[in-house]
Amino acid sequence: SIFSLSALLTAYLFGSIPTAVWIGQAFYGIDVREYGSGNAGATNTFRVLGKKAGISVMLIDIFKGYTATNLAYFIGISITGPHDSVQFVNFKLALGIIAVMGHLFPIFAGFRGGKGIATLFGMILAIHIEAALLCVMVFLVFFIIFKYVSLGSIMAGFTFPLSIIFIFHSPIRSMVLYGMCITVLILVTHQKNIERLLKGKESKISLFKKPQN
Ligand code: G3P
Repeated sequence: SIFSLSALLTAYLFGSIPTAVWIGQAFYGIDVREYGSGNAGATNTFRVLGKKAGISVMLIDIFKGYTATNLAYFIGISITGPHDSVQFVNFKLALGIIAVMGHLFPIFAGFRGGKGIATLFGMILAIHIEAALLCVMVFLVFFIIFKYVSLGSIMAGFTFPLSIIFIFHSPIRSMVLYGMCITVLILVTHQKNIERLLKGKESKISLFKKPQN
């Protein structure tokens, strides 16, 4: 219907908000895509502009994915199905993925966006909070031990569908399917990171030392 279409469009526009680019330009006069990994995300903002900017981008991008996914609540249940139905979860999944696509290909920043980790986290927070928290824990374990954000992101990407299947035993098949798509998506967006990780050339990030490159 026209309502669900406009919700999907709104989710794309939400996801498209290029937080990293806008914060960099507005407060530091630089486009973070010209430095560091070239990515318009929280990690690269942290790397290039420091803690305050990086954490702000992260929180706003998480919020973006969370809000876009929850746009489902604004659509009548005659369209989405009751809030505990599979149909409703499907609609949230679609909204979330569209928002992530907006983040990857933002209409407001020449379609050159980020890798979608924070936005994906916001999305799964809105869909399966326990799985989302488990993903954060896995992320933190890898990030704290190895100091690579990308490695943490990739491991968290595997954790989501695996935990949906083996730990939470969700009966919703589409969640498993979307989860697997998320894993693949993260592997695709992190191709360069994977190459650098294999060569031992990925940049390490430490929360407690000065950002390095
Ligand atoms: O935030 C995405 C992260 O997983 C990798 O970012 O800038 O190191 O490529 P970056």
